[in-house]
Amino acid sequence: MEIILQPSAERAVGLTAQLIAKSVRENPRLALGLATGRTMEAVYARLARMHREDALDFRKVRTFNLDEYVGLPADDPHSYRHYMTRHFFEPVGIPAHHTFLPDGMAQDLDAECRAYEEKIKALGGIDLQLLGIGNDGHIGFNEPLSALMSRTRPKALSPETLAQNGPLFGDPTRMPRRALTMGVGTILESRRALMLVTGAAKADILAQAVEGPITSMISATALQLHPHCVVIADEAAAAELRGTAYYRRVFETEPEWAEFR
Ligand code: F6R
Repeated sequence: MEIILQPSAERAVGLTAQLIAKSVRENPRLALGLATGRTMEAVYARLARMHREDALDFRKVRTFNLDEYVGLPADDPHSYRHYMTRHFFEPVGIPAHHTFLPDGMAQDLDAECRAYEEKIKALGGIDLQLLGIGNDGHIGFNEPLSALMSRTRPKALSPETLAQNGPLFGDPTRMPRRALTMGVGTILESRRALMLVTGAAKADILAQAVEGPITSMISATALQLHPHCVVIADEAAAAELRGTAYYRRVFETEPEWAEFR
């Protein structure tokens, strides 16, 4: 794992977008794993700008989202399909048939989850998986006690997650109690993982996730097992980390980061 510290949320978002853009330019048919949430909105806005101003071309990219709420149709403004269409798919011009999310309205949710895993496999696996972290340490909706080898499945949302996202529904009681989510094991099979963490509210959970022991109580700790994982954090989110001097030196001196300094 590499931890890359940036002085502001804006710079952290900018670097995340640059890394995604570089991957798309190197491989126009990239299989890109995507996350939703407040943190990612700025990343998608930045990529949309690169699409408009720098001709960043997403037409051949295929996308797999981490999760979707159970019981929300695609046109519900709170569904992740709706979020993705609005913030990313339309602004960057990804054809709808290249975009995949598990269907939270499926009659047979277990069959839907199995089919989602098969789809990822059939398209050759995920090249680059974008991730955020929840207040309870989840990645995707892998809530505490998610098995480190779990696959895409229905998951009951934790009280922390209901508190985190409930306000987005206006009336928090309207937030679904379940979601379909890629498993921790699914995420660990991505060829590269890129986690973005910004803001003081995430400082404690970020330190536990990257510097604490691996535990299914904090799914993000499983990223310590990932062979190619980069975590980008702003100063506020990095406030509780112990190894900051080392992380700064890596970014300032390692050749692979030269083009991004
Ligand atoms: C949602 C997802 C979640 C979010 C996390 C952080 O698709 O993958 O793991 O990344 O809940 O959400 P925000 O950015 O809203 O704090």
